[in-house]
Amino acid sequence: MQLTAKEQAMLAGAEGAGVRKAIEIVVALGQIYGADRLVPVESVQVAGVSYKNLGAAGLAFLREWAEEGGQVRVPTMLNPAGIDLERWRALGFDETFAAQQSQVVAAFAAMGIEPTCTCTPYLVGHVPELGTHLAWAESSAVSFVNAVLGARTNREGGPSAIAAAISGRTARYGLHCDENRLASVEVVVRCPVQGAADWGALGYLVGKAARNRVPLFRGLPLDGPSETNRAVWDPLKALGAAMAASGAVALYHVAGVTPEARQAEMLQSGHETLIIDSLAAGYRALSGDGGPLRIDLVWFGCPHASLDEIAELAGFAAGKRFVPAVWITTSRQVREAAQAAGHLATIEAAGGEVVADTCVVVAPVEGRFRSMATLSGKGGYYAPSYLGIQVRYGDWEQLQQVMLTGRWKAGDDS
Ligand code: F3S
Repeated sequence: MQLTAKEQAMLAGAEGAGVRKAIEIVVALGQIYGADRLVPVESVQVAGVSYKNLGAAGLAFLREWAEEGGQVRVPTMLNPAGIDLERWRALGFDETFAAQQSQVVAAFAAMGIEPTCTCTPYLVGHVPELGTHLAWAESSAVSFVNAVLGARTNREGGPSAIAAAISGRTARYGLHCDENRLASVEVVVRCPVQGAADWGALGYLVGKAARNRVPLFRGLPLDGPSETNRAVWDPLKALGAAMAASGAVALYHVAGVTPEARQAEMLQSGHETLIIDSLAAGYRALSGDGGPLRIDLVWFGCPHASLDEIAELAGFAAGKRFVPAVWITTSRQVREAAQAAGHLATIEAAGGEVVADTCVVVAPVEGRFRSMATLSGKGGYYAPSYLGIQVRYGDWEQLQQVMLTGRWKAGDDS
């Protein structure tokens, strides 16, 4: 691998132990994956932020790196933490866990990392440009910036993202290279796709089939260009998140919509073709046994909700009273915007909560809810295994019924 004089000096310890550790990790990954050189990164997103996942050993690791002089040199953001950092007590989170989580955020802050605590940083001003190199870690965010914005990132792990932030570089392999961004699965969609649950069910089905390959979609009811037409962002964030969960899809293209597919033929010769004429199998797979169930929690905001999604929930909540707990998880900035727009007061008056900085999967909510209904493909996919709860997966109309009755009715699973 070719290293510049500056990179060689970093490796030799010229910028201190923390920088040497960072570039050692970046170079080691480059050697494993056959990179020819390192590339500068414009921004970094770090995952593995919840104390539930990190634990005492992870916290000690972060503190040690900060004490060694580990300081980020590019804008660096955090994925959701384990609590709402301001309202954790009102939301019923444990005081000991809250103190531990605050120490984690403080350790990241000591490295210069912004406590953004969101998986949708692109909704709060971090919108990378076409072709820029990044080192982002959360799978749905990786998928979004690669596909919708045409930026370039592999799916980083916790330490490798921090290493990229401190060294300002990542190894050039995988999705940083043109040849690996071509699609090998053509997905022809012949059924209607409308509403978040449809996008999640489609993503579930395609992720299962594509695994870690790159799909190219045809037949989706979307208009480009996806970088600037924000009307397509909510559908594509739901689609990409579900594909990253049921498979490991880190990049996809949509013909005529996403930037690289508008500029060039992104389909490899010898590709496979997948025809989707129904989403019913996706709904069934995400909905447990599909039978009637008393629902404890209705969860929106996986990935973190946009202001439009919160506005839609507020529109429904006006003048109503929710029976189960209703959480919509989002970033702090979007929560503040929702408050300014009056949505928060409406949702809270109905008994719902707009929860910032965290989400149901990374928060320590095990044992608190026995059942959940959602329209998120990713949330529906992970909740049974991460939280040990029963899940029902449905569209917006089904979830409206659940919010008013607390019950999932039999036959509502397709
Ligand atoms: Fe984000 Fe949590 Fe879903 S990190 S993508 S809301 S599982």
